[in-house]
Amino acid sequence: MRNTVMTLALSCLVGIGTAWAEEDTERGRILAETCVGCHGVEGYTNAYPTYKVPRIAGQHEAYLVDSLQNYRETNRQHPTMVGQSQALSEEQIRDISAYLAGVGREDKRAYPRARSIGNPDRGGQIAEDAGCQACHGTDGNSPEGMQPPSPIIAGQYADYLYQSLKQYQDGSRDSATMAPLVENLDDRELRDLAAFYASQPGPLKIMPR
Ligand code: HEC
Ligand code: HEC
Repeated sequence: MRNTVMTLALSCLVGIGTAWAEEDTERGRILAETCVGCHGVEGYTNAYPTYKVPRIAGQHEAYLVDSLQNYRETNRQHPTMVGQSQALSEEQIRDISAYLAGVGREDKRAYPRARSIGNPDRGGQIAEDAGCQACHGTDGNSPEGMQPPSPIIAGQYADYLYQSLKQYQDGSRDSATMAPLVENLDDRELRDLAAFYASQPGPLKIMPR
C-alpha cells in the first residue's frame, strides 16, 4: 500500500516535471557542441551560395526556438540546418536556445564590412520608409516578445541579411510576415537594407568554442 502511494506520488512528480520542464542550459551547451564548427568560427562561410553563417549567440531565445522549428518543418530549406534540427527533440531545441541566448564571443570584424554589400545610409532611409522599425526597432535591436518572434538583426553579417531578404522575396524562406514587406523592393534596396542593419551595434556574437 505504502509502495503504491509512493509510486503514484512519484509518477505525478515525473508527469509535472516533463510538462513544465525548465530549459537546461548545461544540457544545451553539450548539445550545441556540434554547432560550433560553423557558428563558432568568425566569418565562416556557407558555400553555394556564398554568405557568412549567421551569428546566433545572444539572439532572442524565442526566435532561436522558432527558427529551429522552422527548419525542422522545412519552412526554411537549408539542408544542413534541416538535418541538424530534425535530429533534435522539442526539449533539446529549448535547451540549446536557452544556452545560446546567454553566451557569445565578440567578433570584431563584423561592422566595418557592412559597406561592401550596400549603402548603410540609404538603407536606414529605406527601412524607415518601409516600416521595418515596427518589429525590428530603429536600429535592428528588435524588442523581445513580438509574435512571431522578431530576430535581432543589428550587427548581423551583411551578406547573410541580404541572402535572407532575397529568400523571403523568392519564397524559399517561408514567412507570412516578411514576404509582403520585401515584395516590392529591388535588389539595390535589399543590399542597402542589409548594409544598414549590419552596421548597427547589437548583442549578436559568435558561439564560444
Ligand atoms: C555545417 C555548418 C552548420 C552547422 C554544423 C550548424 N549550422 Fe546553423 N546555420 C548554418 C547556416 C549556413 C545557416 C543559414 C542557413 C540559411 O540560410 O537558412 C544556419 C542558420 C542557423 C540558425 C538561424 C539563424 C537566424 O538568424 O535565422 C540557427 C538558429 C542555427 N543555425 C542554429 C544551429 C544549431 C543550434 C546548430 C547545432 C545543433 C547548428 N545551427 C549547426 C550552418 C550550420
Ligand atoms: C510585422 C513585423 C515585421 C516587420 C514590419 C519587419 N520584420 Fe523582418 N522579421 C520579422 C519576423 C517575425 C522575422 C522572422 C521570420 C522568419 O521566421 O523567417 C523577420 C526576419 C527578418 C530577417 C531575417 C533575420 C534572420 O536572422 O534570419 C531580416 C533580414 C529582416 N526581417 C529584415 C526586415 C526588413 C529590412 C524589414 C523592412 C522592410 C522588416 N524586416 C520588417 C518581423 C518583421
